[in-house]
Amino acid sequence: DKPENNCIVIFGASGDLTHRKLIPAFYHLYANGQLPEEFAILGVSRTAFSDLAFREKLKQTLMTTEEVDEQTLEAFCQHLHYQALNTAAVEDYALLKERLDRVDEQCHTNGNTTFYLATPPSLYSVIPENLAAYGLNDESNGWKRLIVEKPFGYDLASAQALDQQLHRYFQEHQIYRIDHYLGKETVQNLLVFRFANGMFEPLWNRNFIDYVEITAAEFLGVEERGGYYDGAGAVRDMFQNHLLQVLAMVGMEPPAAINADSMRDEVVKVMNSFQPLSEQDLKQNLVLGQYTESDVRGEHLPGYRDEQGVASESRTETYVGLKMFIDNWRWSGVPFYVRTGKRLPTRVTEVVIHFKKTPHPVFSANAPANKLIIRIQPDEGILMSFGLKKPGAGFEAKDVSMDFHYESLEETHMLTAYERLLLDSMNGDATLFARTDAVKACWKFVQPILDYKEDPKHLYGYAAGTWGPKEADALLAGDKREWRFPC
Ligand code: BG6
Repeated sequence: DKPENNCIVIFGASGDLTHRKLIPAFYHLYANGQLPEEFAILGVSRTAFSDLAFREKLKQTLMTTEEVDEQTLEAFCQHLHYQALNTAAVEDYALLKERLDRVDEQCHTNGNTTFYLATPPSLYSVIPENLAAYGLNDESNGWKRLIVEKPFGYDLASAQALDQQLHRYFQEHQIYRIDHYLGKETVQNLLVFRFANGMFEPLWNRNFIDYVEITAAEFLGVEERGGYYDGAGAVRDMFQNHLLQVLAMVGMEPPAAINADSMRDEVVKVMNSFQPLSEQDLKQNLVLGQYTESDVRGEHLPGYRDEQGVASESRTETYVGLKMFIDNWRWSGVPFYVRTGKRLPTRVTEVVIHFKKTPHPVFSANAPANKLIIRIQPDEGILMSFGLKKPGAGFEAKDVSMDFHYESLEETHMLTAYERLLLDSMNGDATLFARTDAVKACWKFVQPILDYKEDPKHLYGYAAGTWGPKEADALLAGDKREWRFPC
């Protein structure tokens, strides 16, 4: 079903996120007929634009970055509106209210409004307060929702403070915290795969699983975001949110039903079971790295410290590798090796489940153990590797694989993460949005790493285009294991 008529107000309408992710997502939803008959997108930012100029600007962006149909694009642009506003000035919200009333009347959006905060996080607490000053959080006339982009805070204390501030003006059911990894089809598939298959469900625990790897590698460096990234680092940028969410999907118990409460109850339960990191863990099980300059495939890549916006003596990590545990009945004693980094050899996100070997090696001492590789991106799919008899004399086992690629499902149009999440938020479905207690649980877990990285004793260099510091290999080598190095 299509969502009800509604209006989306995007704060930060001239920013990068709006141009790269939000507007393309809205365009594709529109082109696929998934938006309601009447909807409006009201861009808001400080720069003065007329509606016409705003439409023209976004049209140009869409024509250069997306495959568009001219007529559809033209029709889509008629739904775009613009209001210049100083977001920090409360009196300006009178203009916004007036404008919203007019849009509502013109476009029949019935007061249903979503405020999307695509702004720097410093405005996250100001905007809700200013909206509330003009009653724009009041749901007596249509729903009012607030979408917040990560980072939700900077550490545990600031996350809690932000949350209190948001809750002063909006109720939890109105707040949608976007972690775009939850919008990825293959991340959601982790649940379907685990809980819809009688073949795998019984095996998903410490009795059969030896260890789990989770990798989110990027080839790109920090690009133009050095200023932001240098204050964040890989732990805040990727690990605290995306990776721990993926880990929760791998580790959680089955929800009683697929709805926002049941799902998120289970997510937070497993997050609260992450084994707290001790001093010893920080010493032995954590590896932080920073990329250094290197020549890769004929291209010279600068080191992190030479990137624009990065301090020349920066001790910010661009790589994090951690061995961690989940303290519960299902996972007791099973290590999860989790890593993410910029300037690794390629862009790939995957989960690898390593099953235990059979108890007695009758065929050959080093027969391979079974592996299940869940490829989150790119080339989304699932690969299973298992042993078969090597043809010929004797009984030697040989590793073979069985592959499934999403692209072979011809009939399906895969929604991008933003398409899915925007659509869900318009439908009032918060299942794939991070709930406040989950965000808190993740900050609580990573807080010791944040404290440690204030002044890291060890920050290892790795050449851009390699798989991170060699010390990260030792995380597994100490347990007689190896990372999988996907290509
Ligand atoms: C963002 C991070 O949340 O996720 C970026 O801020 C990172 O640094 C991006 O590049 C990765 O997203 P994806 O979908 O490309 O894996």
